[in-house]
Amino acid sequence: MTTDPTSAPAVRVRGLRRVFGDRAVLDDLRLDIARGEFVALLGASGSGKTTLLRILGALDGADGGEVLVPGARTVVFQEPRLVPSKKVLANVTVALPRGRSADGLRALAEVGLEGHAEAWPATLSGGEAQRVALARALVREPGLLLLDEPFAALDALTRLRMQDLVGELCRRHRPAVLLVTHDVEEAVRLADRVAVLRDGRLVTDETVDVGRPRDPGDPAFAALRRRLLADLGVDVPAPSLPTPVRTEAGVI
Ligand SMILES: Nc1ncnc2c1ncn2[C@@H]1O[C@H](COP(=O)(O)OP(=O)(O)OP(=O)(O)O)[C@@H](O)[C@H]1O
Ligand SMILES: [Mg+2]
Repeated sequence: MTTDPTSAPAVRVRGLRRVFGDRAVLDDLRLDIARGEFVALLGASGSGKTTLLRILGALDGADGGEVLVPGARTVVFQEPRLVPSKKVLANVTVALPRGRSADGLRALAEVGLEGHAEAWPATLSGGEAQRVALARALVREPGLLLLDEPFAALDALTRLRMQDLVGELCRRHRPAVLLVTHDVEEAVRLADRVAVLRDGRLVTDETVDVGRPRDPGDPAFAALRRRLLADLGVDVPAPSLPTPVRTEAGVI
């Protein structure tokens, strides 16, 4: 793996291969992510999304291919993975040099948790703990933010709020982002581009051409959602036109 903080794009992957046993989970995969670009990655369970994310985060190696990523990368997983014996602020600054508490407090303020700096992780709600994990990831000002189903364990309302927060923070900090999700609507709401991983490579890689703020009722949103679901093997019928109602006076 090469890290290159200067050249664009932020992520450049060519011919990536990862084999487990006799199965190539990633096979000749190609992916570019521009600086500041937000890419959502969809794919069936077991299709290799986490495997790709782990390779980009240097948590796992590849069996072949070329991977170019920024030097500073951070990952947020489905579960917050806080250190229970450290208070919230210490969790946020855990990977920083000593004496960076002010940065940690600023990051906590950005996720609305400055009042919880001295709390223990065990006293946080699931959504709060995930916001701490987000603050911990952003405080390092990563060139690449890797998100592996970060909202999957949250209730529907908290999930929507977290999506808005992540969208806002990413627009402010401008890392390149790879968001792994099973939620097609979430992908279309947040991403600049959406890709689908199948049979080891990206079978779809599409710019999201829907104006912001994105409304699932927008026909372009619905059409892209339907195409992506079809790529995932879920057929959704196109919305039918209202059935005309016949009356004795004619058709309404
Ligand atoms: N360390 C490993 N050793 C052996 N097989 C592995 C290993 N890591 C992943 N796999 C296999 O590779 C495949 C892809 O796994 P991966 O976790 O990347 O899928 P995923 O797309 O993230 O799935 P999900 O949506 O369920 O999280 C799976 O079949 C998994 O069992
Ligand atoms: Mg996974």
